[in-house]
Amino acid sequence: MSAPAFDPVARVFEPDALGRSVRLRGWVLRSRSSGGILFLVLRDRTGIVQVTGKRDVLGDAAFDAAEHVQVEGAVTVEGTVAEDRRAPDGREVRASAIGVVHAGDPFPIWTDQTEEFRLDQRHLVIRSQEHVATFRVKAEYLRACREFLDREEVLEMTPPVISGNAAEGGAEAFQFDYFGRPGFLSQTAQLYLEALLFPHERVYALTPSFRAEKSRTPRHLTEYLHLEVELAWCDLAGLLDFTERMIADTVHAVAERRPKELELLGRPPRELAAIAAPFPRIRYAEAIDRLAAQGFPVRWGSDLGAAEERALTVESRVPLFVTHYPRELKAFYMTQSRDDPRTVEAADLLAPEGYGEMVGASCRETDIDRLKERLTQLGVDSAGYEWYFDLRRHGNVPHAGFGLGIERVLRWMLRREHIRETTPFPRTPSRHTP
Ligand code: 4AD
Ligand code: MG
Repeated sequence: MSAPAFDPVARVFEPDALGRSVRLRGWVLRSRSSGGILFLVLRDRTGIVQVTGKRDVLGDAAFDAAEHVQVEGAVTVEGTVAEDRRAPDGREVRASAIGVVHAGDPFPIWTDQTEEFRLDQRHLVIRSQEHVATFRVKAEYLRACREFLDREEVLEMTPPVISGNAAEGGAEAFQFDYFGRPGFLSQTAQLYLEALLFPHERVYALTPSFRAEKSRTPRHLTEYLHLEVELAWCDLAGLLDFTERMIADTVHAVAERRPKELELLGRPPRELAAIAAPFPRIRYAEAIDRLAAQGFPVRWGSDLGAAEERALTVESRVPLFVTHYPRELKAFYMTQSRDDPRTVEAADLLAPEGYGEMVGASCRETDIDRLKERLTQLGVDSAGYEWYFDLRRHGNVPHAGFGLGIERVLRWMLRREHIRETTPFPRTPSRHTP
């Protein structure tokens, strides 16, 4: 005998479903019983529905068993779709049978527990409606990014995560013992993407990046998902154009495909639909002037931290590019501006509403001597970068790229106070379990 087919919960809400019989299976969101009637709220991957079961219909044994199912216990339901004005979506399922798959232990999660406890119980907390919505949006966002890149003929690559040197400069890399030699967890796939760009011209990678910064801030993870793009024959103007088109296109896709989830998380989809390219751009020098005028103790050469980035965008509903940072503030591989040698051909894209940097973009220095000069200034031995210099010895062409922090984008899109809410098992300096 083949297993009985089950309907998705969403079937209950289809226009022709009233009066039809359905078979559902899923997990119990909550339940209560009174006067011989059991009310279950059932969740599956497609939705949530109220189920009612009467003792005189189900029979004593089945009713008693169903009554003992805990929150997050698993059940099957057979019944008829009926109208019910008190039910959340106007419909319910009147059960003719309820089968217990797993009654479960009492579920230990409820609201107003401490944040630490909830992080310890993360493996169970991620069943909450907020987390369900968050990770559906995240999946949709990743899909939208891949679709956009596919349309733009940018090819997905699979660079390594283990490396013998620390690409961004050393201080923040996780180091480990690699068979007796130092190994590092990747902070960026950029250098490998640059190598792959020569045979493919337009490449990207979606990989975890690791940062050993001890910063306990609401926007830093020690492991995050990094979307990196590298484009041949590209200058800063072309790079910013590509970046803003990608951001606008991908957030529009999420607004269109996940409106309910966005509403649940407090982000009206129309606010994302309103994000339109081109984004405003200011030079670093102008950002410094604006900040100084607001009373920030900054001058040329000051780094822009979370507070400064926030001040630049807190009133804004669209992202902002800050370009032409001082060379000393940025990574060794960025192209020195030929018109102002103090600066680099680079931009950070700041999220609206004060959420801060979500993309770091730059043209890549093609001159080996300038690369070596910057590495020396940073106190890094250039010997480990010989293979990277080789790329400048064989068909060296102008190229540019960016890295986008997926969780940084989601933090803004979903208005999350802390970045850890945008990843199921967050890694921070104080926590790497469960
Ligand atoms: O600005 P970053 O350090 O740039 C790079 O790594 C370049 N090599 C990328 C490239 O051009 N291919 O990092 C890029 C982005 C940041 O803009 C931010 O969104 C995110 O990565 N990011 C983090 N996200 C979460 N937690 C952290 N600790 C992050 N550090 C950077
Ligand atoms: Mg950056």
